[in-house]
Amino acid sequence: MKTLGEGKTKIVLFDEETGSYFLKFKNSITAFNSQRKDELDEKGRINCEISYFLMKEVEKSGLPISYEKKVDDVTIKVKDLKMIPVEVVVRNIAYGSFLKRFTIKEGERLKQPIVEFFFKDDEKNDPQLTRELFEYFELANLDEVEKMKEYALKVNEILKEIFHKVKITLVDFKIEFGRDKAGNLLLADEIDPDSCRLWDFSGEMLDKERYRRGLGEVMEHYQEILKRLRKVPG
Ligand code: TMP
Ligand code: ASP
Repeated sequence: MKTLGEGKTKIVLFDEETGSYFLKFKNSITAFNSQRKDELDEKGRINCEISYFLMKEVEKSGLPISYEKKVDDVTIKVKDLKMIPVEVVVRNIAYGSFLKRFTIKEGERLKQPIVEFFFKDDEKNDPQLTRELFEYFELANLDEVEKMKEYALKVNEILKEIFHKVKITLVDFKIEFGRDKAGNLLLADEIDPDSCRLWDFSGEMLDKERYRRGLGEVMEHYQEILKRLRKVPG
């Protein structure tokens, strides 16, 4: 298998014999633009299972996704897409970078979900995008921006409902999109505790925020999320 690209937590592979693409989840975890970096046993396996489950739930609701099938514990066969270098963030509760940019109480429930777009550029700390900047840098046309917003809000409803069933509050999350050869937008990348903020109903943090804040027991909490999701009827 040929490595087409390697990110901080995943690798994109290409099988030249079959012409298939694969996404492989690594055990690495990073924060603050990789200034903090560790390897956590089982992380790839747990995130791969969580992400596959959640993506397939999204697909059931009629939204197109890049995942095809899980081929082993850490690898998913995916469609051939050109990724849009944009992070689409949906927030239900004020937390994280939102608090640095706006004066609002930490943990306050937002009157309605808010969608934000950020350009993926670690060196520039992922600057926030406007519609004008999307057009200027030819990242996506305005129809696509609207569509990403609409998809993101639908994904929010689906994920909120699933997590609610297992007594978890979806605070916020980040998703990414790609285009297939026909130009269709598909949900890609990952949905797991690295890319979501998830609080137990008691208020305990279950996601990567534990790592950012040095709270410890990161994998124990990821495992707890997986354990609860396995009980959701598929
Ligand atoms: P933020 O509050 O730091 O902007 O993060 C919003 C959401 O996006 C949160 O659920 C964490 C997720 N996220 C990523 O998945 N990758 C990133 O690089 C960052 C900065 C945030
Ligand atoms: N994903 C980013 C990093 O690895 C930031 C974060 O999620 O906190 O540095």
